[in-house]
Amino acid sequence: MGSSCFAHGNQMILEHIKAFLAKNVIESEVDLKGSLCQGCCKDGPSVLIDGTLYTKMNIDKINKLLHQKLPIFKGSL
Ligand code: FES
Repeated sequence: MGSSCFAHGNQMILEHIKAFLAKNVIESEVDLKGSLCQGCCKDGPSVLIDGTLYTKMNIDKINKLLHQKLPIFKGSL
């Protein structure tokens, strides 16, 4: 939720994640939190999942990550 990531569209990524979790009824199984700057501002928006930082997020990239990282979707892509 740092200012550079905000300027690069993190709100759109956040809304997509929230909608994805709601659509798949898994909000209660995912701990979704905002954080301050992760130190890679020029490559934002960034997303941290299970300790791994992913950068230059867009809707396609976050959608693929959600399918890859959430256990209910493993192997679906
Ligand atoms: S503001 Fe997002 S990494 Fe710095």
